[in-house]
Amino acid sequence: MELLQGLLSRVSQPVLQAPGPDHAQIELAVKAAICVPDHRNLQAWRYILIEGEGRERLAEIYARSQSEQAPQRSAAEIDRLRQQPLRAPTLIMAVLRRQDAAQVPLHEQYLSMGASVQNLLLALMAQGWAAIWRTGALAEDRAVAQALGLQEQEMIAGVIYVGTTLNPRQVSRPPPESFWEIWS
Ligand SMILES: Cc1cc2nc3c(=O)[nH]c(=O)nc-3n(C[C@H](O)[C@H](O)[C@H](O)COP(=O)(O)O)c2cc1C
Repeated sequence: MELLQGLLSRVSQPVLQAPGPDHAQIELAVKAAICVPDHRNLQAWRYILIEGEGRERLAEIYARSQSEQAPQRSAAEIDRLRQQPLRAPTLIMAVLRRQDAAQVPLHEQYLSMGASVQNLLLALMAQGWAAIWRTGALAEDRAVAQALGLQEQEMIAGVIYVGTTLNPRQVSRPPPESFWEIWS
């Protein structure tokens, strides 16, 4: 029942501040993140924690890379991008280690990665933390991927921002009846 309450009340929190979870709490969340359906047991998911000064170094790498890719960008725009990794005290990069698609089609690997990130989010929430799953340019920037030590076949499936929220966002979900039917 507790699990169901957690599932039904899950909500993303975009506005985050310190503090963030400690390492034991993150490890517990990762423990949950690897308890997911996984065709042929590929274990294609891994997570990279970035916190403290690491976020600032990442922000610099990202800002430099983005300005090199689009030199026409204004200083204000680059500065806005530089702030992105600083939006929460804790960042967790969700990395998919893509495997040969002959074994398991790529879309199935993406699905398992999604399930893994969802478990991670729920486990963080269960420990009292607020979080949001983002992607965007930060997740796609090859300089960022390289700095984090990603291999060629790896990709950032999500940047999970974690921290504390002062004004929790409320959402109302649509009624479930439009999302299922009885086949007759
Ligand atoms: C793969 C993926 C990527 C996402 N990327 C972003 C993003 O870059 N920026 C953003 O604001 N929301 C992004 N979202 C959506 C948020 O995580 C969140 O689901 C959305 O704000 C709705 O809030 P809710 O989860 O409380 O329903 C992404 C979601 C997924 C599944």
